[in-house]
Amino acid sequence: MSRKTILAGNWKMFKTSAEARQFFSQLLPLITPLKPDREVALGVPFPSLEAAAAAVADSPVAIGAQDIFWEDQGAFTGEVSGPMIRAAGATAVIIGHSERRQLFGETGQWVNQKLRAALRAGLAPIVCLGETRAERESGQTFEVLGRQLAEGLAGFAANELAPLVLAYEPVWAIGTGLTATPEQAQETHAAIRQWLGRHLGPALAADLRILYGGSVKPDNVARLMSQPDLDGALVGGASLEAAAFARIVNFDD
Ligand code: PGA
Repeated sequence: MSRKTILAGNWKMFKTSAEARQFFSQLLPLITPLKPDREVALGVPFPSLEAAAAAVADSPVAIGAQDIFWEDQGAFTGEVSGPMIRAAGATAVIIGHSERRQLFGETGQWVNQKLRAALRAGLAPIVCLGETRAERESGQTFEVLGRQLAEGLAGFAANELAPLVLAYEPVWAIGTGLTATPEQAQETHAAIRQWLGRHLGPALAADLRILYGGSVKPDNVARLMSQPDLDGALVGGASLEAAAFARIVNFDD
């Protein structure tokens, strides 16, 4: 099993380009040299992509966007395409975050189209999935995740999905300070991996990295990452402050 751990941040709608430059000038010395068993990425707002990418040049940090539109260009006011994201210097993109699904009506079919656009543009997609509190409490977690996976990954062959990363983010744990216990997260990640094995084959299931997200902090990251099917973290609030995110990146394994 050689899945390299990814510590990814998701800034959401925070940080101008000047604030991004300042963040990286603080972060890079704190995480250098990066431990060889891990990768680092930050999902930043579109207007800060170029400054962020310039700030991390010659470092192991990757920059990602937080959304993508599925056409490459055209009359789609307000949207941003894969080639534009690539040209700004990003190499990854977050797709289907629960805030987009809940606040902006993003559907599984959109996630599917955005995934295709990301792969076409050569961006590493981080596709998010997760159940609400009501869905967990009514025992529907695995059904909901199965549906999100089936919709998001519809029509793809396993070999097309090699660059894909998944992020399991229980909606009830995002920004709430409530973290899934390491055992709860492990159980769910293992179920996602089983789904991948059934639908896309054992090789992809074994290789694909599944990140956990939802109130990951410097003091809980190591316990979460010690679970065998947790291959990294997608960090919101604690990725906004360089010292806190550095502690997450440098966790002791
Ligand atoms: P949080 O956000 O770490 O602030 O809970 C996680 C996310 O939304 O990706």
